[in-house]
Amino acid sequence: TRVEKGGYKHFMAKEIAEQPAVLGDALRHYLGEEGPRIELPGDIDFSGVTRITMVACGTAYLACLTAKYWIERLAGLPVDVDVASEFRYREPPIPGGTLAVFVSQSGETADTLAALRYCAGRADRIVSVVNVAESSIARESDLALPILAGAEIGVASTKAFTCQLGVLALLALEAARQCGRLSPAALADHLTALRAMPGRFNAALALQDRIEALARRLAEVTDVLFLGRGAMYPLALEGALKLKEISYIHAEGYASGELKHGPIALVEKTVPVIVMAPHDRLFDKTVSNMQEVMARGGPVLLITDARGAAEAGSGVWETLVLPEAPELFAPMLYALPVQLLAYHTAVAKGTDVDQPRNLAKSVTVE
Ligand code: G6P
Repeated sequence: TRVEKGGYKHFMAKEIAEQPAVLGDALRHYLGEEGPRIELPGDIDFSGVTRITMVACGTAYLACLTAKYWIERLAGLPVDVDVASEFRYREPPIPGGTLAVFVSQSGETADTLAALRYCAGRADRIVSVVNVAESSIARESDLALPILAGAEIGVASTKAFTCQLGVLALLALEAARQCGRLSPAALADHLTALRAMPGRFNAALALQDRIEALARRLAEVTDVLFLGRGAMYPLALEGALKLKEISYIHAEGYASGELKHGPIALVEKTVPVIVMAPHDRLFDKTVSNMQEVMARGGPVLLITDARGAAEAGSGVWETLVLPEAPELFAPMLYALPVQLLAYHTAVAKGTDVDQPRNLAKSVTVE
């Protein structure tokens, strides 16, 4: 069946807007309508698992990087994350007790598939997180977890990313439960929080007009920096990736704490710095990084929540206020303004949003 734009100007706009619905569907698929049970197919067993290795490319890689924070924090299992093109040729040792996880929207990315084949017979178990259920990566895994995002046409991944995060969050929670690190009550709380994410997505989408106005100004610059700490660090990378992919503006994502180790040299009034900082336990640290930027004349766009906006102090160029979200799942929510910023900047610049130059939706050759 042909997928239509359904009244939207671009597939990317449609796919961004679909996120509350598709994440809701994906969560219901694994959780049922209610009740505190995660139903992962194939009874995934973490009892012999001592480490997890995650491999992917592009935006899927950044979903893995986010999941590393979740799995290590919740389940206490060490997690390695690699881009597939490095992993496959480095041929890393795979000790017994390794669960290998491959994340791919298309399920056909050549490097990710090659990395999976390297792990076959070496890792204890191969799990994939895919959008295309009948893809090569799904077929060659011991267990394939569909993300149920529906067809994604825009080359820059949006709804697949948030659905990947949704399924990876469930994987992290299930690992934590089986590892005895999550009481039934704590698990139920996390699942309630997760089920509330699509509603928060709607609140983020409601910021569209503000973001569009900001994007018109971003469209005039040549360089942008994205900063984040903790699980917001992968989101900073994703923000930079999205922006460069579709608007062709040079963008870099950095861990806030690395600011001093290089990128601060780039700060000046023509280089906007987009800081993603919900009011969490690392908020004050990020605020001091932000002040270092502002002291050097860098315009800061702060993406935060109401408490963060109240405590950020003065001197910020612009603030985008998102709803409060539990610290654990905030990265999912912060993906939306980042996607919208990239989208509206590209529209303002008049670039080909759905088919950016030189990029392919699925990289099936090396
Ligand atoms: C390409 C696409 C990206 C995607 C990446 C990995 O670069 O443009 O949007 O994140 O491939 O693709 P996969 O299908 O493996 O997730």
